[in-house]
Amino acid sequence: MTKLGASIAEESTDQDLGSLTKQDLGSILAPVRKEMDLVEKFLQTNLVDDSPFVADLLTQIFQAGGKRIRPGLVLLSAKATSAEEVGSLQIILSVLTELIHTASLVHDDVIDQAGLRRGKETVNRKWNDKLAVLVGDLLFAQASICLARLMNPAIVGIYGQVLGDLCAGELVQMRQKYITTVNWDNYVHKSVCKTASLFAAGCKSAAILNHKDDQIVQAMHDYGLNLGICFQIVDDLLDVTATEVQLGKPAGSDLAQGVITAPALFVLERQNDKAKRLEQLIAKREVSTEEGISEALSIIKSEGGVESTIALAQSYAQKCHQSLELLPASDYRQSLSMLVDFMCTRTG
Ligand code: FPP
Ligand code: MG
Repeated sequence: MTKLGASIAEESTDQDLGSLTKQDLGSILAPVRKEMDLVEKFLQTNLVDDSPFVADLLTQIFQAGGKRIRPGLVLLSAKATSAEEVGSLQIILSVLTELIHTASLVHDDVIDQAGLRRGKETVNRKWNDKLAVLVGDLLFAQASICLARLMNPAIVGIYGQVLGDLCAGELVQMRQKYITTVNWDNYVHKSVCKTASLFAAGCKSAAILNHKDDQIVQAMHDYGLNLGICFQIVDDLLDVTATEVQLGKPAGSDLAQGVITAPALFVLERQNDKAKRLEQLIAKREVSTEEGISEALSIIKSEGGVESTIALAQSYAQKCHQSLELLPASDYRQSLSMLVDFMCTRTG
């Protein structure tokens, strides 16, 4: 057993933060490995484009890696809610979920002026912003074609909502930069829009394609939603605790850009001297300097921001496990459960 705090945040304190088995994503996805290979092949070779330059660019984007959590989640949800073999519609659903995720990251890197993603140069850095916007658009277009192939208006509506949520989440984040007022509803809402909406859509739609009843569809939605929130909270935590090598992108960049997430919010709401100092560093934009960000991160760590954030992630993880209780026991349900623990113990 590994200590949750120790694995999430290698620089965190020695406090006992509870324990979970550290999960390996490869083993979790093993029950759907065959189907994951089909998704991978689709992503790397089946995205039709007449221009060899664009086709090559798309291949490079998908060969750059990524954990493929979302397609795995769709396939596991499909198998956990039906004894049938995974059909082509579930594969397409899985592909389109990854296409939307990848497209949103290509656009996000333009917005954030990021140069590194998954340890590789971003499209905007390697080429330029205009090209990156168009490539992101192209990926969204490919996802729309996949969506049409599902011939399911309910799922078209669900994914339409996801696209709106992704944009809304980015807009909220942009407008809340450097604002130190603690508002947890806003934080959770932003996390739902940026991340959890797509997770929920994938899990729920897999159950819809299996013609499951409303109770199971709702349980899969709730599982995906809470897993997505948990994922985003841990992402926000890793920005404070992980290294650039672990993340494949620069660490500490959220706060440096004025994006205030859970680890900082927990400290800010304490309203003690350290909290006031953190507030000052943010308000005066000193977090954008090397000394400022270093002081801010050190306050967050010494004032318990890491431990409180882990506890918050765990509370959402707990809700995921409750939703899974409605599903019949199977290796696939077991993997969905292990995925929850993976979310809480991942280091990158
Ligand atoms: C990563 O956030 C970004 C997202 C989860 C979503 C970004 C969404 C958009 C840019 C809008 C997409 C556009 C359409 C048309 C739907 P982050 O910056 O916190 O994470 P990072 O550190 O991995 O970049
Ligand atoms: Mg970003």
